[in-house]
Amino acid sequence: MKDVLILAIESSCDETAAAVVANGRRVLSNVISSQIALHKVYGGVVPEIASREHIKAIDKVIDEALLKSGKTLEDMDAVAVTCGPGLVGALLVGISEAKALAFAAGKPLVPVHHIEGHIAANYIENAVWKPPFICLVASGGHTHLVHIKDYGSFEIMGKTRDDAAGEAYDKVARVLDIPYPGGPGIDALAKEGDPDAIAFPRVRLEADSYDFSFSGIKSAVINYLNNAKRKGEEVNRADVAASFQKAVVDVLTEKSVRACRNAGVNRLALAGGVSANSCLRESIRLECEKYGIEMCVPAPSLCTDNAAMIGSAAYYEFINGNIAGPDLNAYPSLKLGEKCINKKTDDVLGLADAISDKIMNNTEYVRYKAAMDNLKNTPELYERVQNFKKRMFEFMLARQENRHTFDEEKYLSQEYFKILLNEDAKIYFENGLSLIKLFEEILNRALCKCMLDVFAGD
Ligand code: KG4
Ligand code: ZN
Repeated sequence: MKDVLILAIESSCDETAAAVVANGRRVLSNVISSQIALHKVYGGVVPEIASREHIKAIDKVIDEALLKSGKTLEDMDAVAVTCGPGLVGALLVGISEAKALAFAAGKPLVPVHHIEGHIAANYIENAVWKPPFICLVASGGHTHLVHIKDYGSFEIMGKTRDDAAGEAYDKVARVLDIPYPGGPGIDALAKEGDPDAIAFPRVRLEADSYDFSFSGIKSAVINYLNNAKRKGEEVNRADVAASFQKAVVDVLTEKSVRACRNAGVNRLALAGGVSANSCLRESIRLECEKYGIEMCVPAPSLCTDNAAMIGSAAYYEFINGNIAGPDLNAYPSLKLGEKCINKKTDDVLGLADAISDKIMNNTEYVRYKAAMDNLKNTPELYERVQNFKKRMFEFMLARQENRHTFDEEKYLSQEYFKILLNEDAKIYFENGLSLIKLFEEILNRALCKCMLDVFAGD
């Protein structure tokens, strides 16, 4: 039988990734461009920077994924993309790209839930792994215990009531001066420490609960460090890391294994960035061995964000007919099990046309266009304005990243007023500024693709 080939795209947080996956199980290519180095300076992901970096990386990443797979876009049976949960701006980059590719190549568009993707990483790790099983999903934004009854059929047994496990790792890492993302750093430092050195609390909540709470242990670590500082006592960072990690891992292990035993499902899978943790993997392996539970855990590179897992989950969506139209939107807080296929079935291309028509006839846009054309009649001025806009844009980026110079700011403001002395430029700028309102309106409707088409000429 012919392979079902899926090109998958993932851009929900700080990794721009693309992969080609055959039949949901075999990875032909898996390319990731990480932005971690960029976000490190801020100690966490800066959404605006993430979106911009996705835009820069996405074409290259997709080209490389196709090239490495030895296939072409035409060979694909579908294009899949993460549609939520995640950062809205970051998700939209992947979604717009996937829509454009699917539309251009005439392929079905498959929306994928990011967490379902994490769970599906197990199908890649173990070619015969299939539902039913229990899965501990522990990532930067989520901590869930899920009963996977069938492909696409989930029952959430428990979840965190406050911080996600990965979030606790990242926050504790920050107070230990470990750079973002903290999980791998704590994992490494903990290897040099004593996990029994400090008795941090294990928050188990009600006796039969599968829910988690990690904000308490985070505060306990911060209090411990503050107390030591106040008393002028030296802190063994490795002991703190190891003891914190042991407390988190104990709770994750106990609840996961209890969930398997109580649900009568003796198969446990791990998923999400935190399952790359060496201590958690070992702890769960030992407990599973003790109770005769079969265990599956993806390779660390498949635990953290990647597109291969999206390609795997997409296969099961695709064969179940879960196809989206070009009106697919981003869903930043999509719940596990929720589908993001719009109920609306009207002709979305017609809708896009109508909106772009509306923009073309929008009085502000018409004025702006006329002012711009007018500006073009004075090539010297036009060039000066374009140059000014470019420098201004670069300056704004630099300012966000705190590497701007005040000389440049002074120069730009002088240049701005000089340019404004020219009537043509004044009209252009005035209209340009009121256009921002229009941009926002369109962005609110998540029709960036349409907007980009319309303004591509500028
Ligand atoms: O699944 P993921 O890559 O992104 C989300 O969907 O959130 O998870 C990222 C999280 C971060 O909090 C990171 O610190 C954590 O996974 N992480 C780890 C390890 N590797 C990544 N936590 C503990 N130990 C690790 N080795
Ligand atoms: Zn993730």
